[in-house]
Amino acid sequence: MVKKHSMNPFNHDIPANREEMVNIHFNGEWVEVPKGLNVVEVAKSFGEFIPHYCYHPKLSISGNCRMCLFEMGMPKRDPERKPIIDKNGKPELMWIPKPQIGCATPVTEGMGVRTDSPLAKECRKAIMEFLLINHPLDCPICDQAGECKLQEYSTEYGSGESRFVEDKVKKPKNVDLGERIVLDDERCVLCTRCVRFANEVVNDDILGIVNRGSYNAIAAHEGQRFDNPYSLNTVDICPVGALTSKDFRFKMRVWFLKETKSVCSGCGTGCNITVGSRQDTVYRFTPRSNDAVNSHWMCDKGRLGFHYLQDEKRITEPHMGKGKLRFITTWEQIYLEIGKQIKKFKGEEIAIIASARMTNEELFLLKTWADELSVVFMDVISRPQEGDNFLRSQDCNSNTLGATMTGVSNRGKNLKKILKGVRDGSIKCMIAWQEDLTEAGFVSQDLEKLDFLITASILKNTTSDLASFVLPVAGFVEKRGTMINVHSRLQRLNKAVAVPGKGKEDWEVLCRLREVTGCGNGVHSFDDLFQSMVKNLKPLKGLNWGKITDLGLDIKIY
Ligand code: SF4
Ligand code: FES
Repeated sequence: MVKKHSMNPFNHDIPANREEMVNIHFNGEWVEVPKGLNVVEVAKSFGEFIPHYCYHPKLSISGNCRMCLFEMGMPKRDPERKPIIDKNGKPELMWIPKPQIGCATPVTEGMGVRTDSPLAKECRKAIMEFLLINHPLDCPICDQAGECKLQEYSTEYGSGESRFVEDKVKKPKNVDLGERIVLDDERCVLCTRCVRFANEVVNDDILGIVNRGSYNAIAAHEGQRFDNPYSLNTVDICPVGALTSKDFRFKMRVWFLKETKSVCSGCGTGCNITVGSRQDTVYRFTPRSNDAVNSHWMCDKGRLGFHYLQDEKRITEPHMGKGKLRFITTWEQIYLEIGKQIKKFKGEEIAIIASARMTNEELFLLKTWADELSVVFMDVISRPQEGDNFLRSQDCNSNTLGATMTGVSNRGKNLKKILKGVRDGSIKCMIAWQEDLTEAGFVSQDLEKLDFLITASILKNTTSDLASFVLPVAGFVEKRGTMINVHSRLQRLNKAVAVPGKGKEDWEVLCRLREVTGCGNGVHSFDDLFQSMVKNLKPLKGLNWGKITDLGLDIKIY
């Protein structure tokens, strides 16, 4: 279990003092860099890449893989220990014959750094040779192929052939490390990123290195399993194919995946993600780094939270009619029928229960339509949960603040009134948008009492079973839009895959419903809708899609 103290997703940020600068001689030029930054990061800031396995910017430094070796120089000093200055006014350097590791070397005044010298290159080649001595040549069947650092670096920095003629050491393979992870110790380069992540980021001191010498292997404590709710982050940071996700392994080659930047909708944190999809099927989510939201991490539940979209309960066609009279229909027919029916009700006879997992654009459009129909009762279903003091928020809805900003949410206060209205017959028509009404305390008899029940839904549920009109709509990876996380950060969702079957994006359905109910429209594209929303909602005034950026934007709701 994740313990509830001292966890900080932003642990181990690089301790550079950005106020204080030092001069260093970097690959032939004197440059000014922040004091304390390590050489790997300094090189990165100049567009130079120093290969590394064990170094990770959000974990403590372990310095064990030796891949980040560079050639270091220090100022020559006179007998009084003062630096000797050359004719250009810069310190004269002497180059140390023994290479240093970049990840554990902070820059200091007058230091020399050569990342591309013959010595640095020769050292990298030698380290690659060591690392490959016992590594199995199983890239064709390894899940990491295509994003494996060992594979990449051996092409870039390795020697292309092996001088090793002895038998490779055999280590445990196919180890069932935990509920979601399989370990192959032969592939492991013993960088200990996984050990440090478990220990430092999620306070779970469960992994370690056992055995000696070439038989060193990663293992969980005897009798224990690595079932931490954040365990799958180790699969991301394992630079090789030693740790693989049971959910993703052998499903898809990574080079076939289309990558789309989006946001997880599993809870109110809104961790930034990359959606990996191919041919309109989602295969995986991986966290996208954003220091303002989720650092480099995401929880396992959110990561695996796309399977429901591919569930057999998925609604893919519009349906009309109740019970045995139900039939699949066309969008146009269902729109026209809804338009005809809804006009029969007064505003106070209609209630809308929407989802605080819908996008701001959808909520804005739904509220606009509700106002046009003079709907009195509208609300969302709240979803409090325990939270874990790390990334899992106490709010299981991903856009509670969006529902508040658009005026759709009445913080659950209207739900009881709506239930009462349905039971006493004053509410005759109900619209449930992406919610199963049983979650708000409605029972089948309540829903059967209604003259008219429309639901826009992703999955089949009690509400869709009893509705007279069922509209198949989009999941969060099937549409563009924005949401606001619990810390008031406005973030963008992008469309990774198409809505399956005849399903449509919610905003399109809402636009057409406005038209058939005589409310006018004026919104013909998502961009029109976004423009209209930012024009009408005060906290979003002056914004455009670009300004939100891939990393989101803090806004003021209240
Ligand atoms: Fe490093 Fe992966 Fe081995 Fe863990 S399993 S020590 S992350 S190579
Ligand atoms: Fe520096 Fe591993 S990255 S020693």
